[in-house]
Amino acid sequence: MDPNRVIIFDTTLRDGEQSPGISLNTTEKLEIAHQLARLGVDVIEAGFPIASPGDFQAVQAIAREVHGPVIAGLARAHAADIERAAEAVKDADRPRVHTFISTSDIHIEHQLQSTRPDVLGQARAAVAHARSLVDDVEFSPMDATRADIDFTAEVIAAAIEEGATTINIPDTVGYAMPIEYGEFLKGLYARVPALADVVLSVHCHNDLGLAVANSFAGLQAGARQVECAINGIGERAGNASLEEVVMLLKTREEHIGLATEINTREIARTSRLVSRLTGYGVQPNKAVVGRNAFQHESGIHQDGVLKERSTYEIMSAASVGFDDANSIVLGKHSGRHALQSALMDLGYEVSGQTLNQAFKRFKEIADKKKQVTAMDLEALVTDELRSDAGAYTLEWFDVEASTRRPPHATVSILTPAGESVRGDFTGDGPIDAIFRAINAATTREAKLRDFRIDAITSGQDALGEASVVLELSGSSASGQGVSTDIIEAAALAYVRALSNVETKVIQAAESAETDEPVLTQTP
Ligand code: KIV
Ligand code: ZN
Repeated sequence: MDPNRVIIFDTTLRDGEQSPGISLNTTEKLEIAHQLARLGVDVIEAGFPIASPGDFQAVQAIAREVHGPVIAGLARAHAADIERAAEAVKDADRPRVHTFISTSDIHIEHQLQSTRPDVLGQARAAVAHARSLVDDVEFSPMDATRADIDFTAEVIAAAIEEGATTINIPDTVGYAMPIEYGEFLKGLYARVPALADVVLSVHCHNDLGLAVANSFAGLQAGARQVECAINGIGERAGNASLEEVVMLLKTREEHIGLATEINTREIARTSRLVSRLTGYGVQPNKAVVGRNAFQHESGIHQDGVLKERSTYEIMSAASVGFDDANSIVLGKHSGRHALQSALMDLGYEVSGQTLNQAFKRFKEIADKKKQVTAMDLEALVTDELRSDAGAYTLEWFDVEASTRRPPHATVSILTPAGESVRGDFTGDGPIDAIFRAINAATTREAKLRDFRIDAITSGQDALGEASVVLELSGSSASGQGVSTDIIEAAALAYVRALSNVETKVIQAAESAETDEPVLTQTP
């Protein structure tokens, strides 16, 4: 491989999905994985198969259906984890097992309650076992940046001896500084000559806002794989943001001399899809994908850009696909075929019942909106995907809102058992009334932990997108909904969040019965 080529390893569906409140179902994970393939990532870390049957099923579906990237499954350095991960990815065109164990004394003593020799033995055995099942094995010494470098080097050398093909150095708690991280990697190269024969990878967390800077320092020290996530989602403050790493390398390519094979024009769309399905909004001033990333507010800047873009722009909105989003794709009179081909242009292959349903929704929107943009269509299709996911379905609602008396809501919900149940409530506002009416109908005491509503495009006729995070019996999950009516969007989001959180509560109860720990968190 070209020595200046950087492998992009996307962990949105694994480390990213571990962010609190995110609860993607298999259909949603598949949709993201297909979009990651269109984006051109080299590796998709599709999940942590031992964590739950749902995780296993999603990784397996991605391995079977998504072609192009390597598909990786995560496993602790335990035989059962490794076998489960290998089984989940085995049907991929190019399967990978990614196994890890901590090398820092803090983790060895307090979390693993083990010893360095035992960790060395476990790492060796894990890689050997993984290599007996798949050819492509990645090994990570977790919390490496707080570990003793000599011990970490010893563990890495053993992993390479047993056949690891990629060695990844996690800055698990986002503690390192760029200069330190680069030096740490150089120190490993000096101590482990065989490291030069495998791919060295970086995996940096953003607790001090340094994930991208540390990843870049790692590349300068010789690493050629970056583990990153769309919109920088991930444990705590998140992972290095894929779009920032990629656009840094592209924008400063002449100076840096490293390149990826990412189709950068797919970046904005991937960011919107991930944000929409996870319910994690993108801050307006976020580098590369924030709504304001290409806006010029001050008169002086606007004047400069009108005269010559490069006065205040170092990359164009078009280069990350922002312009596509606002292109008007369909009008009020467009037919089913036009919708299908517009969706195809956006990368969605929709036919049969899903197309009929999408067309019905499109007509409803087109009646209310003058122009239906690519962004509207994306929102609509992802909303259709979600519709399958819910255990509860919103059948209808009435809300009587007034400034003179408290608003009253009545809802009808279809339960997972197929029964229509009704509830009503007089709340502090129309949204509060409808949320509590849903609780009354379903007899669930869900607690609202977060609620957001955003306009998808500008203008008074914009589609509204609501995101709700609910807590029930100690579990939390999110749900999203889209409609031109913000109360309906909120109600849809609430019902989906309720379905998702209930699934989590059931899973937690099942694992409690079998005494298995709930394995959703890895740093
Ligand atoms: O941050 C971390 O250490 C991880 C490992 C599992 C690679 O996510
Ligand atoms: Zn991580």
